[in-house]
Amino acid sequence: MKKIALISGITGQDGAYLAEFLLKKNYIVHGIKRRSSSVNNYRIDDIYEKFYENSKNPSFYLHYGDVTDSLNISELVNKIGPDEIYNLAAQSHVKVSFETPEYTANADGLGVLRFLESIRRYKKKKIKFYQASTSEMFGGSKPPQSETTVFAPKSPYGAAKLYGHWITKIYRESYNIFACSGILFNHESPLRGETFVTKKVVRAAVKYSLDKKEILQIGNLNATRDWGHAKDYVKNMWMMLQKKNADDYVIATNTSYSVKKFIELTYKYLGFNIKWTGKGLNEKGIDLKSGKIIVKVNSKYFRPNEVDNLRGNSNKAKNSLKWKPKINFKHLVKEMIKYELELQTKKNR
Ligand code: NAP
Ligand code: GDD
Repeated sequence: MKKIALISGITGQDGAYLAEFLLKKNYIVHGIKRRSSSVNNYRIDDIYEKFYENSKNPSFYLHYGDVTDSLNISELVNKIGPDEIYNLAAQSHVKVSFETPEYTANADGLGVLRFLESIRRYKKKKIKFYQASTSEMFGGSKPPQSETTVFAPKSPYGAAKLYGHWITKIYRESYNIFACSGILFNHESPLRGETFVTKKVVRAAVKYSLDKKEILQIGNLNATRDWGHAKDYVKNMWMMLQKKNADDYVIATNTSYSVKKFIELTYKYLGFNIKWTGKGLNEKGIDLKSGKIIVKVNSKYFRPNEVDNLRGNSNKAKNSLKWKPKINFKHLVKEMIKYELELQTKKNR
């Protein structure tokens, strides 16, 4: 019998990588997608074609749904009867969560509860549950952050996710549900959403390499992040659900870089060296060769409150799950550049 997985957030970065990973492992995969006025399936188009449209025995199915709709979630859980649920759906942008705090709380906090309640009421089999928790929950706590670090969120997103994290633990302990959270540090890929900093930098740098005009408008240059590759992180999601006992794990690379360093490296790989001038909101990055301004700080991209430093200690996952990231930071940056170069060159043809 093939295992059945249900993934919320299937159209997102992690949803696409996880679906591909599970399909290769011979799972039947059901994905929940939101209705939108324009189609946004581009990350899963290939697998939909291969495992649904062109397959004699389809193993990939899509369902309309929304984690803010409890009837819809419980109906899907009852109808599909999955062995494993991966809850990846979220309003995942930290800055946007300051603008849509109530919606973020509903989707990222209560959305988790809706799945757990549906699982608790489902009596035909034991369903395993994975929750995508986040290093944003650590907020102001100093690095390196591990499973024992105090949570101190600094955004509506971090607070909503912390509710999701705790309610997952509470349902595990109260109802003996196999429910666990991966405390995921930042992870990127060519499929990263375009308003997250890594993708935004790579896009602007590639554009500059082609048109010699593009200026990257950026916010806080000094924050540091622990950036891994999404492929490594979705594999870990699956590994956590294959363990005998449910538990929570920090998933990180244990190294961090500043936003400024990410920018310097990206432009360097494209053949441009940056000289920085000015301070604070007047800081600028100049292309050493041409003397042109290529990076400008813009107050629009600052947050009302910032998480300054994130660097995870994922020794627990290393020892207990035998997991460690395979793709290093430099490879990640190069892969993102290569993908973007191909895309923009094609567009310009
Ligand atoms: P993403 O690319 O932003 O994808 C989020 C997904 O959730 C999208 O498919 C989105 O649908 C869907 N979604 C949003 N609101 C929804 C709702 N109300 N109902 C149903 N679906 C909804 O995020 P990601 O990078 O793949 O991250 C996956 C999960 O891991 C998220 O929960 C995120 O908070 C968490 N996480 C991510 C990172 C990271 O660095 N990537 C780190 C820690 C935790 P649309 O495509 O329609 O928008
Ligand atoms: N997005 C963005 N845009 N961030 C900028 C910019 C900009 O123009 N300029 C500077 N930054 C800084 C942010 O202030 C932050 O310190 C850092 O770059 C990373 O920002 P994001 O890429 O938006 O990621 P994030 O760390 O806020 O959140 C991501 O990681 C979390 C895990 O720590 C998201 O994927 C969350 O969903 C995830 O939980």
